[in-house]
Amino acid sequence: MMTDAKYAGNAVYGKLMGCYESCKGRVPFKPKVGIVLGSGLGDLADSLDVEGVIDYHDIEGFPVSTAPGHKGRYVFARIPRRGGAAAAADGAPAGADAVGAGEAAAGNGGVGDASFVGGGADAIGAGGPAAGHGGAGDASFVGGGADADSVPVVLMQGRIHHYEGYPMSDVVLPIRLMGLMGIEALLLTNASGSVNTAFAPGDLMMITDQISVLVPSPLVGQNLDALGTRFPDMSEIYRKELRSAILKAALKEGIEMRQGVYMQFSGPNFESPAEVRMAGILGADAVGMSTACEALAANHMGIKVAGISCIANLGCGLSDKPLSGDDVNEIAARTGPKFQRLVTRAVGEFPV
Ligand code: HPA
Repeated sequence: MMTDAKYAGNAVYGKLMGCYESCKGRVPFKPKVGIVLGSGLGDLADSLDVEGVIDYHDIEGFPVSTAPGHKGRYVFARIPRRGGAAAAADGAPAGADAVGAGEAAAGNGGVGDASFVGGGADAIGAGGPAAGHGGAGDASFVGGGADADSVPVVLMQGRIHHYEGYPMSDVVLPIRLMGLMGIEALLLTNASGSVNTAFAPGDLMMITDQISVLVPSPLVGQNLDALGTRFPDMSEIYRKELRSAILKAALKEGIEMRQGVYMQFSGPNFESPAEVRMAGILGADAVGMSTACEALAANHMGIKVAGISCIANLGCGLSDKPLSGDDVNEIAARTGPKFQRLVTRAVGEFPV
């Protein structure tokens, strides 16, 4: 699908294909879903039956994160189609499967806040047409295909941030690599600060759309048309059918979901109060330092994207307390078990 001659001298293409060549022999199966584990979710990979691991350090040319103590690796595992034992073990309400949408909606009905789930799961029509996958999902990986009981996934334990000093093409390289491994859907997770004043630390927000105008687009430069088109449509980055699956999973797990727009800032500094106010005026509900660029690159490749953000703190200026990275990590870690339950169940519901 990709012709080397066309991209001769293109450093971005060369690096991507170099990484692909370096790791493809160690990919145990063709994953259907990629999951980027944000703050607080890193342990999710450890709770699954792992079938393979590739350390970022062992992939030639891979932009290894500079963050100290950073666990950077791809983990290959299977997630049960329905939460099953894992969900029950983690304190999911007994018989969550049996909760009808109507009942759960009634449970949420008193909350006069459109951003809660409130039985809206079915209002989002599932089954929108999947865009043609421009990526070169390599059919040579064996296994991992249609499995009625489980979804073959590749998880990223550790992502690359622009604020570490990497160009955007490096930041999204791991996403493109998962595209080359064959993923059809990508679930992006992160920790963020709230902009919407109805949100509280510990809330989970399903991302409905994004604003990325303050950071460079990862698509700048020669277009790699083997991956996607020069001017990709962004009218539905976060796909309806995946959002529907997330809301359904939240209902089954008894987890209240917020919904909103995520806005990416460059970091590593937290935003100023004026910037948080600006984000609100522009239509954002949460702010963070990742994700939107990854969603752009995946959407460019025709990969269906979903996103969930852990609201780890009130955005700067919304509380009297100065922000610290440690506090943010602590809330994200405390929200981890709920977040893990949601992600596991949601991926099990993904129509892939
Ligand atoms: N701003 C940006 N990124 C973040 C925040 C925040 O308030 N909290 C967690 N990640």
